[in-house]
Amino acid sequence: MDYLEIVGGGSLSGEVEISGAKNSALPILASALLCKNPLRIKNLPDVADVKTLAKLLEHLGSEMQWVSPNELLIASDRIIHTKAVYDIVRKMRASILVLGPLLSRFGKCEVSLPGGCAIGARPVDLHIKAMEKMGAEISIEGGYIIAKASSGLKGSDIVFDKITVTGTENVLMAAALAKGVTRIVNAAKEPEVIQLCEILQKAGVEIEGIGSNELCVRGTNGELLDFKEINVIADRIEAGTYLCAGAITNSSITLKNVSPHHLEAVVGKLQEIGFTIETTSNTLKILPSHKRNAFEIITTEYPGFPTDMQAQFMALASQCEGSSFIEERLFENRFMHVSELQRLGANISLRGNVAKITGGERLIGADVMATDLRASSALILAGLVAEGNTQVHRIYHLDRGYERLEEKFSTLGAQIRRLKEK
Ligand code: EPZ
Repeated sequence: MDYLEIVGGGSLSGEVEISGAKNSALPILASALLCKNPLRIKNLPDVADVKTLAKLLEHLGSEMQWVSPNELLIASDRIIHTKAVYDIVRKMRASILVLGPLLSRFGKCEVSLPGGCAIGARPVDLHIKAMEKMGAEISIEGGYIIAKASSGLKGSDIVFDKITVTGTENVLMAAALAKGVTRIVNAAKEPEVIQLCEILQKAGVEIEGIGSNELCVRGTNGELLDFKEINVIADRIEAGTYLCAGAITNSSITLKNVSPHHLEAVVGKLQEIGFTIETTSNTLKILPSHKRNAFEIITTEYPGFPTDMQAQFMALASQCEGSSFIEERLFENRFMHVSELQRLGANISLRGNVAKITGGERLIGADVMATDLRASSALILAGLVAEGNTQVHRIYHLDRGYERLEEKFSTLGAQIRRLKEK
């Protein structure tokens, strides 16, 4: 296994290119199952989760041609079976995204129940209830979701009890080939959901309400879709992570190929802390601040403050004057990074789902362990300012969602290298 060694204390400078969004690439890949023509997808991030889902699609029978690590030609007109096996699904819960397309195209499928993960149980009950509402018969046997809809899925009113990103995406893809109209009430409206809606719309699916919490989808009644070439949107969480790298080291850095309007909550919070952020249509530049104020965050669905940026801001809070408070409202266990940040000397106390971080303590480098994708990035940020060396172990978590991470940080002047565990 690899680990990262970071020598703390320096400042950063220069520019970093933001990659395509992992959380847009995954539903887009799954939607290829609805496609009657070979599909070209550009600006895919070269990360493990994308490779895992591509492997699952290949296992189902899709034909793949990697034009480059970031560009894929995929043809799914000849799918040989409809079983998403445990061995692949266990590696990434977003594999659940094949449930909707397989069920609407073939009228049956078996999808391994994704395990939970470090940040919570992460059930898929809302996905299953929605498919049942659309006419599927679903049973859980041997850890698999066994789904049948022999007469195809039918359009229905789906009211989500909770806003679910991949739940909304699964229903969108199921509804695209269903018979009749599906209304999705309390739908997620993350930029990644919006991109999927736009792709389906361009492929011939009538969708109203894009960008709102209520979507109306008129299915093609089993007619496969004619997709146009796709360019994956920029990764707003990767961008937010690099903004936090500039903030925590109090440096001036520029992000390129980014969509600033997807980061309004994150940019607003950094401005509240004291940073100046200069924006153009596709770049963001953060400038050093003489004063970094404590802040409060409550994580909520888009366009609110994203849960995927919570850990990174907790690391930043250790460098702000006074006590900051972070309330995690989406996941029940997304504070795994707290104990690791405490190992570096951060002054953090927890009360239920609220973390209090008192700034001003010097961080001292140490061995720390990554527990989930975003927690790992927070440990790197802390390592950038900790005195001495920080070793971040189990960085396979990072490789799931950050492309060329140490290369990008090195370009910004960080002293970071990837080493092999002895
Ligand atoms: C997506 O996960 C993202 N992943 C996550 O990013 C992100 O943290 C999350 O949305 C919230 O923004 C992808 O898009 C691939 P949810 P998802 O369904 O769809 C509960 C990252 O780091 N829920 O919106 O799995 C659930 O437990 C990852 O890139 C149910 O109870 O999240 C959670 O409390 C981490 N039943 C809440 O809803 C269900 O059937 C929101 O989850 C589904 C969800």
